[in-house]
Amino acid sequence: ATLRVALVQLHPRFGQTARNCARALAWLSHVRAELVVLPELAFTGYAFRDRAELRALAERPGESATVAALAAWCRERGACVITGFAERAGDRLFNSALVIGARGVVACYRKLHLFAREAEVFDPGDRPPLVTAVRGVKIGTMICFDYAFPEVARTLALAGAEVLAHPSNLVLDYGQRVMQSRCFENGVVGLTANRVGSERRAGALLRFTGGSQVVGPRGELVRRLPRRGEGVLTLTLDLAAARDKWVTPTNHLLNDRRPELYQLGRGARAAGG
Ligand code: ACM
Repeated sequence: ATLRVALVQLHPRFGQTARNCARALAWLSHVRAELVVLPELAFTGYAFRDRAELRALAERPGESATVAALAAWCRERGACVITGFAERAGDRLFNSALVIGARGVVACYRKLHLFAREAEVFDPGDRPPLVTAVRGVKIGTMICFDYAFPEVARTLALAGAEVLAHPSNLVLDYGQRVMQSRCFENGVVGLTANRVGSERRAGALLRFTGGSQVVGPRGELVRRLPRRGEGVLTLTLDLAAARDKWVTPTNHLLNDRRPELYQLGRGARAAGG
C-alpha cells in the first residue's frame, strides 16, 4: 500500500484564528495528498496566559468555522487532515488533534502528556490513544510531548498503527531525534508537523524548532524541513516496510516483548548492594 502525505510547517500568530486558518488553507491550495498533518494548536497559537484566555479561543469542533473550511478542502480533494486544535467540551479544555474528513470530524485525540505550563490551562486527555484508518492505512495520533512517553507510540503500534501522525509545537532541541527512536522501536513511519516562530507570553519566550520531518520504520530520517520558515513537505509513503516488524530474521519488534517480566509500575528487581 502507498499513501501520499503532506506535512505543513506553519507560523501561527497568537489569537488570530481566522488569519491562521486562511494561511493554512493557502498552503493547502498547492498540496496534493491523501493525508495532511498540521502542527499542534495550529489556529490559536500556543502560549495562553491563563485558562480564561484559552477558553475564549478554544472551540467546539462541531461549531468551528476552521473545521468546516478544512472539511470542505477534504471534500474537494478526497483527502484527510489531522490537525492540532484547542478543543472546548463543556467546561473542559483540551489540547487535541482532530481527524477531519470530507464530512467533518472523524475522530479526536486529546493530548495525554501536557508539557510544562500547558497543565495550567488544559485538562489532560481522558481517553486512550487513537488509531484511525485513512485509505486502508492505520494512522495513530500523538501530540508533541507525547514523544517523551514511549507507551503512547507503543500502544498505537500494538493497536495496529503503521504511521504516527504527530502534530507538534516542539521547543526542546531533541524532540525530532527522539521521534526517530519511537519509529525504530515500533517499526512505524513518523510524521511530525511542527511550527516555527516564537511567542513571548506571560514573561516567557518560547522558540519553536521547525524541522518538520518524515521518519522511516527503522528510525531513519527520510526528509526534514528547515528550522525556520513555513513550508510543505510532500511524499508518497510505501507502507510495506512499516508492516514488517522483523528487524533481523529472528527479532520481531512487537512479538518478542517480555511484558510478563517488565513489571511496569512495580519497579525492577534490585540485587547486590
Ligand atoms: C509540547 O508538547 N508542545 C512541547
